[in-house]
Amino acid sequence: MILVTGAAGFIGFHLTQLLLERGDQVLGLDNLNDYYDVNLKLARVEHLKKYPNFQFVKMDLVNREGLTSLFEKHRFKKVVNLAAQAGVRYSIENPYAYLDSNLTGFLNIIENCRHFEIEHLVYASTSSVYGANTAQPFSEDQTVEHPLALYAATKKANELIAHSYSNLYKLPTTGLRFFTVYGPWGRPDMALFLFTRALLEGRPIDVFNHGNMVRDFTYVSDIVEGVKRAMDHVAQPDPAWDSDHPTPASSFAPYRIYNIGNSRPTQLMDYIHALEDNLGIQGTYNMMPMQKGDVPSTCADVSRLERDLGYRPQVTVQEGVATFVRWYRAFYKVAL
Ligand SMILES: NC(=O)c1ccc[n+]([C@@H]2O[C@H](COP(=O)([O-])OP(=O)(O)OC[C@H]3O[C@@H](n4cnc5c(N)ncnc54)[C@H](O)[C@@H]3O)[C@@H](O)[C@H]2O)c1
Repeated sequence: MILVTGAAGFIGFHLTQLLLERGDQVLGLDNLNDYYDVNLKLARVEHLKKYPNFQFVKMDLVNREGLTSLFEKHRFKKVVNLAAQAGVRYSIENPYAYLDSNLTGFLNIIENCRHFEIEHLVYASTSSVYGANTAQPFSEDQTVEHPLALYAATKKANELIAHSYSNLYKLPTTGLRFFTVYGPWGRPDMALFLFTRALLEGRPIDVFNHGNMVRDFTYVSDIVEGVKRAMDHVAQPDPAWDSDHPTPASSFAPYRIYNIGNSRPTQLMDYIHALEDNLGIQGTYNMMPMQKGDVPSTCADVSRLERDLGYRPQVTVQEGVATFVRWYRAFYKVAL
C-alpha cells in the first residue's frame, strides 16, 4: 500500500490516478482545506473513488496521533508527501499556515516514515527554492541559500530535514522540485485558471512584471510520470559524492533531489496567447509590477532526471493549454 498525501489536490489527484491505473493500492490522505474551492477537491476524490484499489482518509498532517495510527494500521510500503500549503503570494499574508502544514506536518510524516521503516519517502519541493539565483537553467548542483518567500524557505527546510533523517535512520528520501505545474483539474489560484476565468467573464487579465516573465510551465502528466519513476527508484547513497566538494543533489546518505520541469521556458505573453487562441477570445491586460517574493524567470536543468530516471518532460505548452481548455469547458459546462 502506498500513502499519497494531498491526494485531493491537483498533483496528488493525477499521481494517485496514475498509480491506481497500474494496479497499486493507494491510500489518499487530505484535510480538504478551503484554500481554494473545496468542491473541486471533492470532485477529484469522487473520481478516484471509482477505483476499487483506492481508499480515502480525511485527516490533517498536524494530527500526530491520527497519523501514527494510520501508519500502524496500514504499514505503508512507500509514502509520497504532496500535501502542503502551496502558493508564494499567500505565504506573505498567512505565514502560520506554512508552519503548520509544511514544517509540523512534514515532521509528522517523516517521523512516522522512520518509525515504521518505510522503503522510500518522496516529497514535493519547488523551483522556488532557487530564489535569488539567476544562473539558468537552474541545476540541483547550485546552492539554494536565498529563498525570496516563506513558502520557499519551508520547502528548502523539508530538504534539510530529509537529509538529516536519511543520515540518522538511513531512510531513503527523494525531494522533487516541481516547476510551475498546469493542466486539467488544476489549481484555481494559479495563472492559467485565473486567466481563463477573466477571459470568459470579459475582465482584464492581471499581468505581473508588465509581462516580462518567463516560466518553465510543466504539464501535470509529465510531473506525475517523474514522481512515479522517482518513487520506484529508491534513493541510494551516492558513491561519487565528495565531502570536500559536496553537491547539494545527492549525499553519502540515501538522499536525492531532482528538478522536474519542462526545460522549455515560455514567455508569459505566449502562454496567454495560447490560452486566448484555444478559447477564441482576445483578452485585455492589466499590466502590473512584479509581485513581492516572486521571480522573473525559471528554467529547469533536467539532466539528472534524464540520467537517473530515464525520461524528460514531453508536452509542449500549446498541447497542454489545449487539453486544459477542453477539460475546463467540460467540467464547468462552458458552451463552445
Ligand atoms: N502546482 C505547482 O505548480 C507546484 C509547484 C511546485 C511545488 N508544488 C508542490 O506540490 C505539492 C502539490 O501541489 P498542488 O499544486 O497539487 O497543490 P494543491 O493545493 O492542489 O494540493 C495540496 C493538497 O494538500 C492538502 N493539504 C494541505 N495542507 C494539508 C494538511 N495540513 N493536511 C492534509 N492535507 C493538506 C490540500 O487540501 C490540497 O488538496 C505541494 O507540496 C506544492 O507545494 C506545486
